[in-house]
Parts: sequence; structure tokens; C-alpha cells
Amino acid sequence: MVRVVVLGTGYVASHLAVGLERIRKGLVKPYGVPLAKYDLPYRVEDVRVVATYDIDVAKIGKTLYDVAREVFGKEYPVPEELKGIKVREGIKLNSDKGLNIKARGLEEEIGLREAVERLADEWVELRPDVVINIISTEEAKAFNDVEALRKAIEGGSEGVSASHAYAYAAYLYAKKVGRGVAFVNAIPTPIANDPAVVKLFEDANSVVFGDDGATGATPLTADLLEHLAERNRLVEFIVQFNIGGNTDFLALTVPERNKMKEFTKSSIVKDILGYDAPHYIKPTGYLEPLGDKKFVAMHIEYLSFNGFRDSIFINARINDSPALAGMLVDLARLGKIALDRGVKGTLYEVNAFFMKKPGPADARNISKIVAFAGLMKWLGLRR
Ligand SMILES: NC(=O)c1ccc[n+]([C@@H]2O[C@H](COP(=O)([O-])OP(=O)(O)OC[C@H]3O[C@@H](n4cnc5c(N)ncnc54)[C@H](O)[C@@H]3O)[C@@H](O)[C@H]2O)c1
Repeated sequence: MVRVVVLGTGYVASHLAVGLERIRKGLVKPYGVPLAKYDLPYRVEDVRVVATYDIDVAKIGKTLYDVAREVFGKEYPVPEELKGIKVREGIKLNSDKGLNIKARGLEEEIGLREAVERLADEWVELRPDVVINIISTEEAKAFNDVEALRKAIEGGSEGVSASHAYAYAAYLYAKKVGRGVAFVNAIPTPIANDPAVVKLFEDANSVVFGDDGATGATPLTADLLEHLAERNRLVEFIVQFNIGGNTDFLALTVPERNKMKEFTKSSIVKDILGYDAPHYIKPTGYLEPLGDKKFVAMHIEYLSFNGFRDSIFINARINDSPALAGMLVDLARLGKIALDRGVKGTLYEVNAFFMKKPGPADARNISKIVAFAGLMKWLGLRR
């Protein structure tokens, strides 16, 4: 079994938990789980969500069943098993800035140092193999230096993001139980890209995957750029729009948060092409009726043989949250496999395929097609 704690009880968390139960019951096939076709030491059915966390007062204390019913609507058959998973109180720090919720966090009552200790103790009880971070996108920076991170946590909250606090709690938990843990960071906060966090995890025989789950238009853009680069076509510009109607898009209307996304998305251009073609790649807006099914438009213009100019246009509607949830199923399994294999720190082969800004900090962003081949090689699998 792969025991999973989920941080952030929103759309993606609900899709993950509901999808896993429906797969277990044989109601749906595991499409959208990239490695479901291959033989891995842990099956998709082995992945179990044991607890989730949030800071929204309207969610804390409820069950995941209640939250999922809000997400999917009353008509949808949300599995009863989710009634057994309670939403626990997490660490807030500045992650509620600009969010339209009434929020509270453990650190407000007992201080940050105690709050990370308390989480680590809760996890000693819950025994997760993997902790998955899918809280709202937050403003954050890397610490780079372990002592600076430790000091910030010990001394209060100066400059600490909620994700860093959670990663630190995972590190403490691993130390307490003397067994490694995998931390999957699916949001833009630099965690696998923060040498301070990677070093901490090495010390605790643990592994961190990140940063920012690669779903929707960004991996598609990466693969198209690879296609053009391999044929030596000169990309003149790239525009990519994303308009969605879920709370994640609403959160991204806060400029600092949007900047975090822009940064993780834009690194693909120079890394894959080898030059920085002019581009506009960022979440562009919020329109409520679109709901979770976002609108994506893309236009790439390039020069071909003998100076001829071609254009690629893409229009798509993509269900946002299930795309990430399917990938998280594999990231949970890979987290446990990496620990079994004694991997410490971070693992580029996993990050390069699953993440928009793959760690470690100096790592290149490669196309997802190339990254998939690397991942298969690491796993010892053939297509
Ligand atoms: N395809 C995708 O949907 C996709 C792809 C890549 C990354 N992501 C990232 O995944 C995250 C989750 O997306 P979502 O659609 O589920 O968003 P959501 O808004 O539905 O859920 C986020 C939840 O996190 C909670 N939260 C905020 N700060 C918290 C904290 N400090 N501790 C615990 N909970 C906290 C919020 O209250 C909310 O319930 C976002 O950051 C998003 O950018 C999503």
C-alpha cells in the first residue's frame, strides 16, 4: 500500500481521492495515469489517501466526502469511503493572501515551530509514505541555504512559505520515524528547486519531487517545441492563453501568484529551443462559467526551409484538475519506489516528465517526450 497525505483539499485533491476509489471499484479504467499500462511494484489500486489538510474554515473538520460533493455536485456518485477521511487544519502563513476564504492556521495559535512539530507528530500516527502538496499557488522564494531555512522556521515565520513549512514538517517526520518520506510538490513554490530543501531531504533519507505539475497546455507546448527544434525550424514567437473558471484561476488573478506560474511555465522555451523566442505563456484570466474545463489557445509561428513561414494554431478545452490528479497517482507510486531504491534528495528522471520546472535548481527543462524515455529507462521498462 502507498499511504498518502494530501495538503490542500480543493479540486485536485477531490479528483484524486474520488478517481482512486472509482478505479478500485472497477467503475473506471485508469486512463490519465501515465504509467498505468506498465508493471510497477505498486499498483494504482494500492494508492490510498489517508488524510487531507486545509486552511479554509469552511472545510476544516468536514470529511473529504463533503468537500468532494461541493466540487462534483450533488448528482455525482461520490464514493462513501471518503466519509472516513477528515480534513485537518494545516499551516497558513501568507498562503491565504487574496483568497476569498475565511482562513486559519495552526501556527496562529501555537507558533510556527510548534506547528511543524505537531504536523510531524500527526504524521507519525498516520504513517504516510508520500506527502502531496496541492495548496493554492502562493508567493514564495527559495532559501538556498539549510541554516537560513532552519532559522526562519525556528525563529517564527520570516519569509517562510506554507509549502516550505510543510516540507520541513515532512523532514521532521522522517527523522522521528527513522524512515524516508517522499514529498511531491505539484505547485510553483520552489521546493525541488530549493537546494536547502533538497539537502534537508538527503539528510533524512527522503526524496522530494517538483516543482509544479505539468498538465494541460505546457507539456503540449514543450513537445511541439521539441518537434520544431529537431527539424531545425526557427520559432519566431509563441503565444499561449489559458482561461479557466475554477478557484485556482481565481487565485491567479493575484499578480504575485501569477508571476510564480509564469516563471515555471516560461522556462521551457529557452531550455528546449536553445534560444529565447519571444513568448507570452501564462494563465490569462478567470471566467466562472468555464468551470474546471479551461480554454486553451496557442499560436506558434516559425520559419521553415528556404525562408517559408508556417503557423500552428491550437484551440482546446481541457479538464484541469483530473489531468493533475492522474499524474499524482503515479507520483505517489514513484515516491515509494524511489525510497525503496534508496534515492535521496531529488530525482530528475521523475521531475523532468511530471513537472513544469523540474528540480534540482540547475536542471534543464526538456520536452516531455524525451523525458518519458528517460523515466522508462530509470524504471527499467520498455515501451
Ligand atoms: N491541472 C491542474 O489543475 C494543476 C496543474 C499544476 C498545478 N496545479 C496546482 O495545484 C494546486 C491546487 O489546485 P486546485 O485546482 O485543487 O485548487 P483549489 O483552489 O481547488 O484548492 C486549493 C486548496 O488549497 C487550500 N489551501 C490554501 N493554502 C493552504 C495551506 N497553506 N494549507 C492547506 N491548504 C491550503 C485552499 O483553501 C483550497 O481548498 C494549485 O496551486 C494549482 O496551481 C494544478
